[in-house]
Amino acid sequence: MNNKREHWENIYTSKKSDEMSWTQNHPTKSLAFIQKANISKDSAIIDIGGGESQLVDHLLKLGYKDLTVLDISEQALLRAQERLGKKAKNVNWICSDITEFKPDKKYILWHDRAVFHFLKQDEIMKYLEITSNYVTKNLIISTFSKEGPMKCSGLSIQQYNAEDLAILIHPEYHLLVSESELHTTPFNTNQAFMYCLFEKAMN
Ligand SMILES: C[S@@+](CC[C@H](N)C(=O)[O-])C[C@H]1O[C@@H](n2cnc3c(N)ncnc32)[C@H](O)[C@@H]1O
Repeated sequence: MNNKREHWENIYTSKKSDEMSWTQNHPTKSLAFIQKANISKDSAIIDIGGGESQLVDHLLKLGYKDLTVLDISEQALLRAQERLGKKAKNVNWICSDITEFKPDKKYILWHDRAVFHFLKQDEIMKYLEITSNYVTKNLIISTFSKEGPMKCSGLSIQQYNAEDLAILIHPEYHLLVSESELHTTPFNTNQAFMYCLFEKAMN
């Protein structure tokens, strides 16, 4: 097991969801950004580092039919599957480090909340190579903002604002909209996030 995987498996075997700072009762901003992308209900959507997020439950309820959740932690995926019960079979589950992901199909929309900010320079290059080859329309990336914490789950992160992220991702994708969000953790502290919606540039 590599260190990253071990870290996340430990988290998901030792903590309840209300002991994880990133837990949301309702992923309001992510859902709003997915609606802004204006894609059809049969579009392939992937949630990167979805963990135990309930985003997938809401997308199923809204009628999205081609959903994939990827996470480095097998335990996180098992917990999400258990929560969904029978509905879990309507979702594709992939256990992989995102930087080693070898997709077997293209995705119309890629959603990432609180994973990109962990990546180091060489990992960012690998990540963007994957999005460049396998994301045909929209990228939604959410990270801690410049007003946010310096660590997430005890790991150092990189803070971003929309301009930083747009520079990294341009010219492949254009920034359509960005918004900030003050997330209230289950233990009533605040974390400043920012969300960006990008669209693939036409060639
Ligand atoms: C801060 S949590 C966010 C979870 C979820 N996106 C949410 O918003 O509730 C980060 C998640 O990304 C996963 N993760 C961390 N590094 C990863 C990597 N390199 N590849 C895939 N998943 C990763 C973790 O297991 C964890 O579930």
